[in-house]
Amino acid sequence: MSHPMSTARVYRAHIFHIAGSPTQGSAAANLASIPDGALVVDDSGRVAWTGPFADLPAQWADSPVTRADYLLPGFIDAHIHYPQAYATAAHGGGQLLEWLDHCIFPTEGQYADPDFADRAARYFTRRRLAAGSTAAMVFGSAFPVAQDALYRHTLAAGLRVVSGRGVQTVGPATASALITGESEAIDLVADEIDRWHAVDTGDPRTARIQVGIVPRFSLSVTPTTLAAMGELYEEVRGRGVYFHSHLNENNRPGDGEIAAVLGTYGVDTYLDTYDGLFLPGSRRGGASLLGRRSVLAHGVHSQDSELARMADTGTSIAHCPTSQLFLGSGTMPWRRTLDAGVTVALGTDIGAGDEWLISRVAGDCYKVHISEDGESGIALHPAELLYAATLAGARALDMEHAFGNLDTGKDADFLLIDKDLWEPLHGMLTMGIRSDDEDEATLEELFTLLVGLRQPAIREVYVQGRRAVAPPL
Ligand code: GUN
Ligand code: ZN
Repeated sequence: MSHPMSTARVYRAHIFHIAGSPTQGSAAANLASIPDGALVVDDSGRVAWTGPFADLPAQWADSPVTRADYLLPGFIDAHIHYPQAYATAAHGGGQLLEWLDHCIFPTEGQYADPDFADRAARYFTRRRLAAGSTAAMVFGSAFPVAQDALYRHTLAAGLRVVSGRGVQTVGPATASALITGESEAIDLVADEIDRWHAVDTGDPRTARIQVGIVPRFSLSVTPTTLAAMGELYEEVRGRGVYFHSHLNENNRPGDGEIAAVLGTYGVDTYLDTYDGLFLPGSRRGGASLLGRRSVLAHGVHSQDSELARMADTGTSIAHCPTSQLFLGSGTMPWRRTLDAGVTVALGTDIGAGDEWLISRVAGDCYKVHISEDGESGIALHPAELLYAATLAGARALDMEHAFGNLDTGKDADFLLIDKDLWEPLHGMLTMGIRSDDEDEATLEELFTLLVGLRQPAIREVYVQGRRAVAPPL
């Protein structure tokens, strides 16, 4: 008998998730697969129970049941650009710096217009919802009006977001619309934090809306900006504010991003510029921006000392293999980065990434790392892909206590997937060859589900037990 006042709901499907709190390397040991599983969501939107449907405790025997083929934790996109929502698959005429100049700075300038920004925020929210990204670290627009639209629509849709206006205080002529003065840049960030950080609950451990300090990259700011950001971060770190930027993405010799950073600042490593050591010779010029709530995109060409410093400070990498293919950036060395102890989550990096679905990014992750040279090459385990797409993202966002898997007591953030909604997925899952060994067959099924999944098969998306709703077009 269910409690008369209870509004608990049961979701019945093949459930996959990474239980507990493993590292990437031990994800396989924590893979939970419950073929005819039940997830019970209580009135507060938390996971009350998971297990075989046949073992559903009597207290929920009368609760309404929703069925699907598969149930996965919500995907977590650890790096996606909101002001590049319309700039996927844009022909940029070169690698990172050319593409920024040619496609991205002009695109992002459009967000100054409130009507454009509102439409773009609705589009962005619809796209990430369709892709099942329940939580996302969203690289923001330079314009407060556009950031307001993003938070407003995310809140109404019932999704999670961490964002922050993209800060630029220096740059080429093509970026002029995005550039502000030094003190205005900091004032706008502080204002965004005050107006939006944890606005929904007042507590960064439970909030769905959170804010970060987000310089585009070291080349778009100055030592003065970095010093002021360090000062601001000292003030707001305790409130759970994030730091987000790009790191070591493009190493074209001579004039690529990394060469330009090292040349401009006269530092030993790119990471030093975010670590307060941005004066020539990597001397200290301000406070560090690294920490448990700091996420840096790419980390393709990091030095060992940078990886060690990220691991020490709890700074995570958002790995974006789809984007790295698009911009010819190379790929983050998988084994070396993980062996250094750095948390690696996945990011679409829309619009350098041309794919919104994190499981497709996981598929690209598989492809690029099996293609790494010699000893570095690795065929990632299906559980590692699921981990990277879900729990690793929650850890990178320092929100593992709240979501990332379906452990009892966590918020019920999950996806319902029906294979019939995407014929190729149905074909692969029902007609594909499977091992006679049951455990092996389960892993094969998970791999096919993740790599073969496409957006139409994501039927419903839930955050905190409530179905997320798309904003109007
Ligand atoms: N580095 C600085 N800005 C950007 C950006 O918008 N996208 C990517 N991929 N890298 C960057
Ligand atoms: Zn990016």
